[in-house]
Amino acid sequence: MRVTGLIKEVREQVKDWRRQGLSVGFVPTMGFLHEGHESLIARAAAENDKVVVSDFVNPIQFGEHEDLSTYPRDFNQDQRVCARAGADLIFHPEKEEMYAPDFSTYTEVENVSKGLCGKSRPTHFRGVCTVVSKLFHIVLPDRAYFGQKDAQQLAVIRRMVRDMDMDIEIVGCPIVREEDGLAKSSRNTYLNPEERTAALVLSKAVAQGEELIRNGERDAGVILAHMRNTIEAEPLAKIDYVELSDADSIEPLQKAEGRVLGAVAVFIGTTRLIDNFMIEV
Ligand code: PAF
Repeated sequence: MRVTGLIKEVREQVKDWRRQGLSVGFVPTMGFLHEGHESLIARAAAENDKVVVSDFVNPIQFGEHEDLSTYPRDFNQDQRVCARAGADLIFHPEKEEMYAPDFSTYTEVENVSKGLCGKSRPTHFRGVCTVVSKLFHIVLPDRAYFGQKDAQQLAVIRRMVRDMDMDIEIVGCPIVREEDGLAKSSRNTYLNPEERTAALVLSKAVAQGEELIRNGERDAGVILAHMRNTIEAEPLAKIDYVELSDADSIEPLQKAEGRVLGAVAVFIGTTRLIDNFMIEV
């Protein structure tokens, strides 16, 4: 497995693979890789001849008061995870390689970026789409792999790829959970033991919402009230949002119909966590 911080070297390597007729899968990450990332890399390795993983904490997707400076990093561990899961190349650039001092071009997806996380993180998806479109231009993959855990990010990326005619297949992959249900996230490391227990209200609320729909409930008000009650019963939890949305447009739903995304964002202490379920009704 090769590691480089240089755009030029990624381009040369991918061109060389292309000359040999090999397909390329791509997994963009911000590092501190866990089993969720590992499942994306393993899937990319199973479905492509070669796999590129980017490992870059993208500063422009963090808001002013967010956790950019404390975001967890462990590049040695990341290399072990990538090698184990079958990656062929890690792109691990410095900020200066990705952003010129006078960088001034952004990719913005309207509408889909506005609800859910977009409400409390108004510049987040602009930062995500800008870095992902740059990475797509650098790697030129056949397929790119994203976790369903960031369901709105997945919807935004799909819309960007469709609208900008990017010739890349976007593959959404299932949420990977801890044994007790907590969705894997690099931010789980911020939780102290008491908060770690409290954080289970997210997966509990999500499972409850999905169960209600499976049992025939369609009224979003009823479903959301149950989910909110579950979260509010936990003193360490503070709701950012609990919503039912269309999984593609991220428009709020009054009735659970179509491709339904039930999504929650909750502060556990100062750590903001997200979780969701997706169901076709
Ligand atoms: O999901 C993430 O880790 C990031 O948002 C991504 C897609 C790597 C862009 O920085």
